[in-house]
This record gives sequence, structure tokens and C-alpha cells, in this order.
Amino acid sequence: MEFFLDSANLKEIEEASSWGVIGGVTTNPSLMSKEKEPFNELVKGICSLVEGGPVSVEVLSTEAGGMVEEARRLAAIAPNIVVKIPMGGEGLKAVYELGRGEDKVRCNVTLVFSVNQALLAARAGAAYISPFIGRVDDIGWDGVGLVEEMVDVFEVQGLESRIIAASIRHPRHVHEVAAAGAHIATVPFSVLQQMAVHPLTDRGIEKFLADWGKSRSSESI
Ligand code: G3P
Repeated sequence: MEFFLDSANLKEIEEASSWGVIGGVTTNPSLMSKEKEPFNELVKGICSLVEGGPVSVEVLSTEAGGMVEEARRLAAIAPNIVVKIPMGGEGLKAVYELGRGEDKVRCNVTLVFSVNQALLAARAGAAYISPFIGRVDDIGWDGVGLVEEMVDVFEVQGLESRIIAASIRHPRHVHEVAAAGAHIATVPFSVLQQMAVHPLTDRGIEKFLADWGKSRSSESI
């Protein structure tokens, strides 16, 4: 399973990229609104930090024509832009339109909450499909279970869209969607940080350093 960073914060993206574990970035209008940089500069900055990895940026229009226009403007900012299109009839029209002709634009269909929505997004031509598992859990359903079902159905049907487990809230979500077969998990920076630590790791380092200090404190490596 690949990791994307779910963030529009340049510092977070730079730090996570330096760990060598991030293959792309996903953003949304809420994440973009937390940042201060002018929109185009911010998008260019993010695109330059991920070594050509896909950067999902979302449209704001709610009807297909507007989505397509915004998508083409976004795609012109950098070659690694993937346009995030909200699920729905208008969104499907836009994804289908953007996948035709010469200037194809790769799309990530977002706000997906059922296998049927995912099936439609795949047939319309989505490169990526984003089930929001935390928000599914929020209403008392099973977000990881949804990803599991989606992965199974896509395998049975031979569909090629990549499933991005999104709206990840804690480290347990991450290993559960990996076990469920998600192709990608897009994780907030705070969750990525939590994934890297364990109290026994910290305790182990402290003990190694203390033991070294007992007899070799004058030496360094
Ligand atoms: O990738 C989708 C994500 O940004 C939404 O997360 O926590 O707002 O449901 P959340």
C-alpha cells in the first residue's frame, strides 16, 4: 500500500517527503483554507515537493461544465495534478468528459461512501476513488469494511481505478485499510507521526544511550 499525505501545508509535505514514504498528496477545500499562500502558488509549491507524485486538488463547481473548466485550469498548473471531483451525476459527467479527447485529465472521485458509487466512478473513468472511512465511522457504519468490500468487488470485476482510503483519523485505520487491500492510504501528518513512534522504541533508545554512557562516555562514533 502506498502512502499519500492528506495536507496542503508546505512544511508538513516537505517533512513527510524527506522521510521517503510519501508518493503523493491529497488536498480538499477545507485543507486549502487553512493555508495563507495564494492558491496558485500553494498548488505549485505542493506539486514541486513530491517529485512528480500525484497531487489531488479539488474543484469548487457543482455542475459538470464548471467542473471541467476548473479541472482544465488546475491541470495546467503542473503535470502531476490530479483533479478531485465530488461524486454525483454532475461529477460523473465531468470525469467522463475529462477522460476523453487529447487533453485527458486524471480524476480522483471524492466523497465516496458506497460500493455502488465507487463502481460508477470507475466506469466513468476515475483514476482514483476516495472512500472517506472516518466519516463512515462517524455515522456508526464501518469505514474499513467499506474499503474491504470495494477492494473485493474491484478485483472480481477487474476494475483498474486505484482505491485511496481517505478521512483516516488514527494509526489503526492505516493498518486496517492495508490489510483490507487499499491501494493507497492518504494520511494526515499527525497520523503519519503517530505511526512512526512507539513507547518501547523511545525506551530502547534511552537505555542504549544510558548503557553507552556508563562505560564509553568519552568515545563517540
Ligand atoms: O482525504 C479526505 C480528508 O481530508 C477528509 O478527512 O477527517 O475531514 O473526514 P476528514
